Amino acid sequence: MTNGDTRLPGHPHIAHRDGLLQVEGVALDALAKEHGTPLFVYSKQWMLDALAAYQRGFEGRDALVCYAMKANSSLGVLRVFAEAGCGFDIVSGGELARVLAAGADPAKVIFSGVGKTRAEMRQALAAKIGCFNVESEAELEVLHQVASETGVRAAVSIRINPNVDPKTHPYISTGLKGNKFGIAHDRALAAYRHAASLSGLQVVGIDCHIGSQITEAAPYLEALERVLDLVEQIEAAGIPLHHLDFGGGLGIDYHGETPPAADSLWLQLLARLDARGFGRRRLIVEPGRSLVGNAGVCVTEVLYLKPGEEKNFCIIDAAMNDLPRPAMYQAFHAIVPVREGAGDSQTYDVVGPVCESGDWIGRDRALRVAEGDLLAVLSAGAYCMAMASNYNSRGRAAEVLVSGTNASVIRRRESIEDQLRSERPDGA
Ligand code: LLP
Repeated sequence: MTNGDTRLPGHPHIAHRDGLLQVEGVALDALAKEHGTPLFVYSKQWMLDALAAYQRGFEGRDALVCYAMKANSSLGVLRVFAEAGCGFDIVSGGELARVLAAGADPAKVIFSGVGKTRAEMRQALAAKIGCFNVESEAELEVLHQVASETGVRAAVSIRINPNVDPKTHPYISTGLKGNKFGIAHDRALAAYRHAASLSGLQVVGIDCHIGSQITEAAPYLEALERVLDLVEQIEAAGIPLHHLDFGGGLGIDYHGETPPAADSLWLQLLARLDARGFGRRRLIVEPGRSLVGNAGVCVTEVLYLKPGEEKNFCIIDAAMNDLPRPAMYQAFHAIVPVREGAGDSQTYDVVGPVCESGDWIGRDRALRVAEGDLLAVLSAGAYCMAMASNYNSRGRAAEVLVSGTNASVIRRRESIEDQLRSERPDGA
């Protein structure tokens, strides 16, 4: 991009050039014309730059970045991270199948989640994944049985709930006592002793994940100390831990948030690891949002402007089935016009066509828009397409990956035939 561009804060690869919004070197209005709307467009360079920040942070260390693919599990996105040498954090058999289809190395796959089924365990053992992040004592038992039946030993790490407040939305806090995740700090040693006694398991690590969209270093530092306290106890009990996994959770700038950069966060965490003698241990992280969130935008068309007594509504062709985060977490996504205009702006609630009041994308936004204009919903790379649904029988949007001036369709728009394919009106 050139110096005359107006870049959007927090979005170095998205800018208005000659008044038109571009992702890297590709204009969004041309993409919308070619592929229709709503349309997700991702910058490959943003993803690689985000990954590079982690890699810089870990330079000279034995570390593996396992992309938490739940944030965006489209094959074209997975391929970017697989080619960059990443591992993957998965939470289902479906995610395992996807990541293998994208060319991931199964040895770099770790399997998280509180409710793994026996079938998923068998599938993951057959694929020879790197490690299971076990979340309960009951799961240890079942994994031991499944591995014994399969005639292999399952590598396990136990997820510890460090009881740390990540100071984020309650739905995405995971490391507090009242959450369903992990094994409580004071039960951890007993769980490790038990795991070490089960012949179907091989204890290899410890992990924690305290929440998502975390914008401060303090909760990480607190969790780190608590995990290291446990590592000392577990190793003193004669159970060596090969790796330490600190989960994901680093936030992004949606609306002026200023989370630490991955490299500066890790500088602080590594200083503590070094001080406590764990700096040479193998380290794993599971970032999702911070690797893809601000790589993506969702391009949408303004269908109608509807002035009201209390509110003006800007009705767009993207909805809560495409962009579920506002409805689910009252999340903020910036919304900007694809073509910069002149004249007065008006305040609108930006809403989708879905038949419920929860279907809003932005509230009280000052916009200069007319019917037929294109808008871009920003920060749409993480937890948008991955959480998209067919609610109201709406087909899921198409996705385009941009690299420089090159744009490739990594997912075609879902057709009504795609939606109807697995259904049988007569139940036959
Ligand atoms: N590791 C584990 C075990 C997780 O549960 C998660 C996210 C991650 C890693 C990645 O966290 P991240 O780096 O993306 O924060 N749908 C919500 C976010 C849910 C996060 C669930 N777990 C949202 O749209 O804000």
